[in-house]
Amino acid sequence: MNNKSEFLEFAIYIAKKAGKIQNDFFGKISDIDTKTTNIDLLTIADKLSEDLIIKEIKKNFPSHSILSEEKGLIDNKSDFMWIVDPLDGTTNFSHNLPIFAVSIALVRNKKTICGVVYNPAADKCFYAENNMGAFLNEKIIKPSLSKTLSKSLIVTGFPYLHDMKYDKSFEIFKEFYDKTRGLRRLGAASLDLCFVAMGRFDGYYEFNLKPWDICAGALIAYEAKAKVTDWNGKKMPNNGDRILATNNLIHEEMISILNHQRYKLFYT
Ligand code: IPD
Ligand code: CA
Ligand code: CA
Repeated sequence: MNNKSEFLEFAIYIAKKAGKIQNDFFGKISDIDTKTTNIDLLTIADKLSEDLIIKEIKKNFPSHSILSEEKGLIDNKSDFMWIVDPLDGTTNFSHNLPIFAVSIALVRNKKTICGVVYNPAADKCFYAENNMGAFLNEKIIKPSLSKTLSKSLIVTGFPYLHDMKYDKSFEIFKEFYDKTRGLRRLGAASLDLCFVAMGRFDGYYEFNLKPWDICAGALIAYEAKAKVTDWNGKKMPNNGDRILATNNLIHEEMISILNHQRYKLFYT
């Protein structure tokens, strides 16, 4: 894409700079902290990447607000808010699995206007902005053409909190496992969405995510002409409570499962 906005150019630039930090630490992590639960991990690469991204946003767009995973909200009462997951896939990163990404989105008046998901280990940069399509390293991407769940490969994820919804989610997992060619759990929500956008997966669903997990990836999927909604087909969610992204063609089939009465627990 040649005519990128200054926001997108900037987001790509800082995502790659943060990615360089992650590549430098990749395979060399020894100290791992925990956050909300003992499986919710935090490394020095999360912290240094976030510090760099926040510093650059403050320098370049001082009036903008920022919501980032580790530091929370910097509220400048601006129409613009940067939504940042400095390192999505920290568990993978900590275990030397190269499926992790920097995820940066810019939201203007609650609408995501640009998004970047950068997987530094493979030097793959996904990006999109409003009405401009979605790209992977300058090449336009599109979702798959699978028409039915029975011919689909789908992906999901699980929250760190192992509560009643988590227990129940294995029933959904089984149902999809039985009705598809397979179901994967890769461990980086932002990349799951990009892989739907580029057609590797036909569908993706997850619950209990946060805006920083999905904002950039959801725009990339949407701009690639994937369908991104809530689990009951309502408009593209920014909060991450229940996200569904598909190639369009299997959307209704996935909704008929996810929106079923037997899973009403997820809507409380
Ligand atoms: C996590 C990943 C994972 C998802 C988790 C997220 P983090 O983000 O996106 O795929 O299943 O629920 O919290 O903690 O690695 O940034
Ligand atoms: Ca995340
Ligand atoms: Ca993270």
